[in-house]
Amino acid sequence: MNQILLRQDLVPKIHSFKVAAPKVAGKAQAGQFVIVRIDERGERIPLTIADWDRKEGSVTVVFMEVGTTTNRLAQLGAGDSITDFVGPLGLPTHIEKFGTVVCVAGGFAVATIMPIARAMRQAGNRVISIMGARSKNLIFWEDELRRVSDRLIVTTDDGSYGRKGLVTEPLRELLSGDGKISRVIAIGPTVMMKFCAKTTEPFGVKTIVSLNPIMVDGTGMCGCCRVAVSGATRFVCVDGPDFDGHQVDWDLLMARQRIYLDEEKRSFEQCQHQHGTHS
Ligand code: FAD
Ligand code: FES
Ligand code: MG
Repeated sequence: MNQILLRQDLVPKIHSFKVAAPKVAGKAQAGQFVIVRIDERGERIPLTIADWDRKEGSVTVVFMEVGTTTNRLAQLGAGDSITDFVGPLGLPTHIEKFGTVVCVAGGFAVATIMPIARAMRQAGNRVISIMGARSKNLIFWEDELRRVSDRLIVTTDDGSYGRKGLVTEPLRELLSGDGKISRVIAIGPTVMMKFCAKTTEPFGVKTIVSLNPIMVDGTGMCGCCRVAVSGATRFVCVDGPDFDGHQVDWDLLMARQRIYLDEEKRSFEQCQHQHGTHS
């Protein structure tokens, strides 16, 4: 059992939990994730390690309420315990001194990109971060990301804060500008990562994306998280989650993410009925 030490409600439907998990904290590296199971009967879901404190033995995850399990998680608070909190899983993000690295985050992935931006900066890179949200009220960790970046650009789809538009616009401007961009890391909704990769491709700048297929065991056994990269089958939980965005078969990934949509919808309706929650 892993106790929740702290809960923070960051913006509507996005929360962070600091969880007591000394073994995970002891080994965590940027880009890795945990598999969480709320209780004996719960399903397993992957969540990225957003932060860790080796001394305290704690790990922070940030999650967005999208369906049954994330809604059930959102009903927990400090003092509650989570049955399984297994990790760190997946390969850490490849960190080295590349030069100028652009870190692009969409939605809750600001939390996912934080440790990567920090590690890239510590490795001596110039880090330019771009964070995008649908609207001002969904922005969180802006100051935190600014602290680990040399420059931060904020966009909102509706123009209520920062620049109006999508993250791909400032990304394209940076790539067309004078300064050489050595690498791009793009993390967020699949469609956003796909379009970031499409934006960088003509410039020939290596673009790393963190794929988010459905996972079950997270250890390479079930085959659930398979994707096609460079025409070969890869398991995201053990071969990733980071891959070269120019080599990913995006259409296959998106189709597989929707495989259980009907079951997820039914389960969520039941969950709302049982708990009387409304989204
Ligand atoms: P459901 O209604 O069951 O599903 C909603 C959608 O979420 C589905 O259509 C599907 O695309 C996806 N999904 C469902 N089950 C799974 C599953 N077992 N594994 C992966 N995706 C699933 N979300 C966060 O909010 N914060 C994170 O830090 C985060 N990190 C992730 C890291 C990795 C490596 C991966 C693969 C996914 C990550 N996700 C993260 C996505 C998160 O796992 C899903 O949002 C969650 O599983 C949805 O569960 P649900 O029961 O609430 O929703
Ligand atoms: Fe089972 Fe990756 S989640 S093989
Ligand atoms: Mg689910």
